[in-house]
Amino acid sequence: MQISLTVNDKPVTVDVEPRTLLVELLREKLSLTGTHVGCDTSQCGACVVMVNGQSLKSCSLLAVEADGARVTTIEGLANGELHPMQEAFRDHHGLQCGFCTPGVVMSAIDLLQNNPDPSEHDVREWLEGNICRCTGYHNIVKAVQDCAQRMKEAK
Ligand code: FES
Ligand code: FES
Repeated sequence: MQISLTVNDKPVTVDVEPRTLLVELLREKLSLTGTHVGCDTSQCGACVVMVNGQSLKSCSLLAVEADGARVTTIEGLANGELHPMQEAFRDHHGLQCGFCTPGVVMSAIDLLQNNPDPSEHDVREWLEGNICRCTGYHNIVKAVQDCAQRMKEAK
């Protein structure tokens, strides 16, 4: 099937099989390998991207379901300079191996869209669907809360 979508602000038209997952389209056809696959049970969150402005596990969506959608991956975040969330993760050591990081960053950005001033509990609850095996989450939470602060001050 042929589908057309916008990926990181670029129009894309591709042929996909009906069973192709969005994450497979991103990684295997579009070479956007910053979106990771960490499980086959839709639990780890390593594959989270933005679809029409909302965070979504790209392993849980068929590519054909993204026909006409606007998709943003971790590669589309930095625009000449790092996104404030990426800066906050860097500054607070919110990553170690980095495998979970693209998904966590995308989820965290969606959190701040919904809740610009999240408590520690809010951040931990929102990121329940993102599993990190390295950091213990503490620095991730600090990074997200600091990013929220920076974005408030920038307004
Ligand atoms: Fe684990 Fe998508 S790859 S939730
Ligand atoms: Fe290694 Fe999260 S930084 S899994």
